[in-house]
Amino acid sequence: MQYRQLGRTDLEISRITFGCWAIGGWWWGTVDDSESIAAIRAAAEDGINFFDTADVYGGGRSETVLGKALEGIDNVYVATKGGVQFDENWATDKSNDPGYLKKACEASLKRLNREVIDLYQIHWPDEGKTPIDVAIEGLQELKEEGKIRYFGLSNFGESDLEVALDTARYESVQPKYNLLHREIEEDILPFCEDNEIGVLAYSPLASGLLTGKFTEDWEFEEGDHRKDHPDFTGEAFKKNLAIVEVLKEYAEKRECTIAQLAIAWTLANPAVTSAICGAKKDMQVDELVEAIDFPLKPKEIEEINAIVTSLS
Ligand SMILES: NC(=O)c1ccc[n+]([C@@H]2O[C@H](COP(=O)([O-])OP(=O)(O)OC[C@H]3O[C@@H](n4cnc5c(N)ncnc54)[C@H](OP(=O)(O)O)[C@@H]3O)[C@@H](O)[C@H]2O)c1
Repeated sequence: MQYRQLGRTDLEISRITFGCWAIGGWWWGTVDDSESIAAIRAAAEDGINFFDTADVYGGGRSETVLGKALEGIDNVYVATKGGVQFDENWATDKSNDPGYLKKACEASLKRLNREVIDLYQIHWPDEGKTPIDVAIEGLQELKEEGKIRYFGLSNFGESDLEVALDTARYESVQPKYNLLHREIEEDILPFCEDNEIGVLAYSPLASGLLTGKFTEDWEFEEGDHRKDHPDFTGEAFKKNLAIVEVLKEYAEKRECTIAQLAIAWTLANPAVTSAICGAKKDMQVDELVEAIDFPLKPKEIEEINAIVTSLS
């Protein structure tokens, strides 16, 4: 495994982060907690020391499972997120009000069974309900109270990121970034590089699409959000599968899998600190971790980008 400093923190985090959304179950079909625990433990054995979850993933289940899986394992860091309120019917509502974030953070600490959260992130903008400077001041207070070590923002646009940085020093952003979704290259990535803010890139496999296992007639399980996801439906799905086919051939020539190629591509961007990869099983983790062994040369990145552009 390779490690990189997160922002200006003292955390040296693995370039592959274990993403704990799917193991929560909601939106990802059936999951088995014992398999999830085995996957997390395999990740730690493979040198992954950074685990990303959120309170809303599985309505708390993801945090609870992560807490159990990491029992007795030292020298790992836990990142979680708050700001999406949830109930047992999967209904959600966003709130970045500092009072709410404080309660959410305390509940996360209990579920994770930890004394301090290494990185606490606001999950989403809350549709203008809480000004970003007010929200981030709430995180600063949580840090001063010793509940969290560092804080970051997820899914915010550049203008909010700028205002937030004028208010308090945060250490990371968490945006979507993969071969099929490169929007953040325009503004977010340069902003983070200029300000030494860590980038935790999520969905490097485009929610599994870039593993190459899907076919046009794939039947997603009820409750799997990919059933209605724009990348997995209609003409976009057909186009994405065509891209995947060519990338698979490219990966074969390099003697790696397309999943490894996709992760290596995300990690090749110098602004990216770590790629947050989701996995439900230990076997999946083993494949993902090996992506570290396939760094891409600039010429290869150009060729891969040309493939995707020509078929998009
Ligand atoms: N901040 C946010 O708003 C946000 C949003 C999304 C994600 N995230 C974070 O980023 C993490 C990763 O994102 P993601 O889960 O959307 O997507 P991803 O990493 O692009 O894809 C993960 C999924 O791909 C499949 N997969 C993984 N390894 C595989 C392998 N070796 N072979 C076959 N299939 C494999 C698994 O699902 P199946 O086995 O079911 O196909 C897995 O759950 C999340 O867990 C979360 O921590 C954050």
